[in-house]
Amino acid sequence: MGVTEDRKINTVLVLVAMEAEALPLINILDLKEDIPQRIAPPAPAVSYSGNKHGVDIHVVRNGKCQLHGVDNVGTVPAAVTAYLAVHEFKPDLVISVGTAGGFKAKGAAIGDVFMATAFANHDRRIPIPGFDKYGVWRVDALAAPNLKAALKLKEGVVSSGNSLDYSKEDWDQLESIGAAVKEMEAAGISWVTHLHDVPFIALKAITDIVDGDRPAQEEFLENLHAAAKALQDVISPVMEFVAGKSIKDL
Ligand code: ADE
Repeated sequence: MGVTEDRKINTVLVLVAMEAEALPLINILDLKEDIPQRIAPPAPAVSYSGNKHGVDIHVVRNGKCQLHGVDNVGTVPAAVTAYLAVHEFKPDLVISVGTAGGFKAKGAAIGDVFMATAFANHDRRIPIPGFDKYGVWRVDALAAPNLKAALKLKEGVVSSGNSLDYSKEDWDQLESIGAAVKEMEAAGISWVTHLHDVPFIALKAITDIVDGDRPAQEEFLENLHAAAKALQDVISPVMEFVAGKSIKDL
């Protein structure tokens, strides 16, 4: 990654699944929807652009499902949006921003914002040599120790799957991964950023406690807006911190 590490960060791509997570970011960063769309239909992604602290910022959300009218979530829309957005915006840094479940055994509490140390999948079980490791995937996030220290963020492994709940097999895999954070997008995005050799970090606000005693959907719906506000509070300081720096300074 030598060349990339020295390059100054001019363009940051922020990938978000849900509209409710994206709108507070768009407001605080004062971004405008790209019209005409920069990510062409039939891709349902919607992008917003602007410049803050001298950094070109593009927030891209997955858009709505044509069949069901809800936000597209999960690793497939996340990876498709990431692929198209990386090609369109040619970012120096990609950030996955969103809500997630957190493990209290790893120090998570509702409203915390975690920064990812690594990305893995907990719902890809392929017990064939080679494919077993491919299924779990696991790649490191950009380390960014100075950013983490400046923002006083908690840190941990982010594990992705395509369900809000978990099966016994998912749980066992989450344990073996050592996940602190469970969500539905980051591992898919990490496959795309790995392909393109683009530095990738993730900021995840905790809406529910995975190893707690309440159903995730109840806690998620209760805490979605507070968590989106926590992400809104963190995004401007992040942009201010990366502005004018190169990847190796993060
Ligand atoms: N997003 C918010 N909470 C989540 C959870 N517990 N699992 C997956 N995605 C989530």
